[in-house]
Amino acid sequence: MPARPRILLLNASLAGDTGNTAALLDHLAARLGPHAELSRLTLANTPGFAACQPALAAADALVIATGTHWDSWSSHLQHFLETATPAEGTALWLGKPVACLVSEHSVGGKGVLSRLQGVLLTLGCMLPPMSGLVLSLAAQTAAEHDPAAAEDFWCADDLAILAHNLLAAAAQARTTPANWLTWPVDRTGFDRRWIHV
Ligand SMILES: Cc1cc2nc3c(=O)[nH]c(=O)nc-3n(C[C@H](O)[C@H](O)[C@H](O)COP(=O)(O)O)c2cc1C
Repeated sequence: MPARPRILLLNASLAGDTGNTAALLDHLAARLGPHAELSRLTLANTPGFAACQPALAAADALVIATGTHWDSWSSHLQHFLETATPAEGTALWLGKPVACLVSEHSVGGKGVLSRLQGVLLTLGCMLPPMSGLVLSLAAQTAAEHDPAAAEDFWCADDLAILAHNLLAAAAQARTTPANWLTWPVDRTGFDRRWIHV
């Protein structure tokens, strides 16, 4: 077992390696890098779940990052989650700490974050406290014009807290692994036709 946790940064941005989400991940990688072995995957370059499976298997913890697109996550992330369905509740996910980053212009990102965290919990992941944040153009603009009023808004500095909590959860999961159980999961028939009328 390596001394440092292995953390996979999964960039689900529509804009791939050059977008806002990639820049957000760069910020986080700078915080995590001194304390973890980082690997990065960009779904725009390697779409779907199959290509990511070896990196997921090797990771002790995950970061998933996406933009907000019409109140939802990116189509790359939707495709990834759909193709990941047969792996629900497997060791790829079970008990793995995951942090989520969402970027947006102004509206919809918190809904994306909450729903994404819900899906990841259902797949089997663990959510450390304060491990999801939304960075918005609106909050950034407000902070530039009225820093006092924007004090409570999420900002890039909050990534330090997210990084700390993810590292703490990854360390705990490695030193004292829990005996998580899974309920029965349908891995083959979830996409069957069930309407007979
Ligand atoms: C097709 C499209 C739809 C978008 N929909 C929303 C939205 O519903 N709410 C919002 O606040 N921003 C929206 N945005 C802005 C993006 O969420 C924002 O620029 C984000 O940082 C993009 O991340 P990326 O550069 O990594 O792709 C949208 C952008 C695009 C291209």
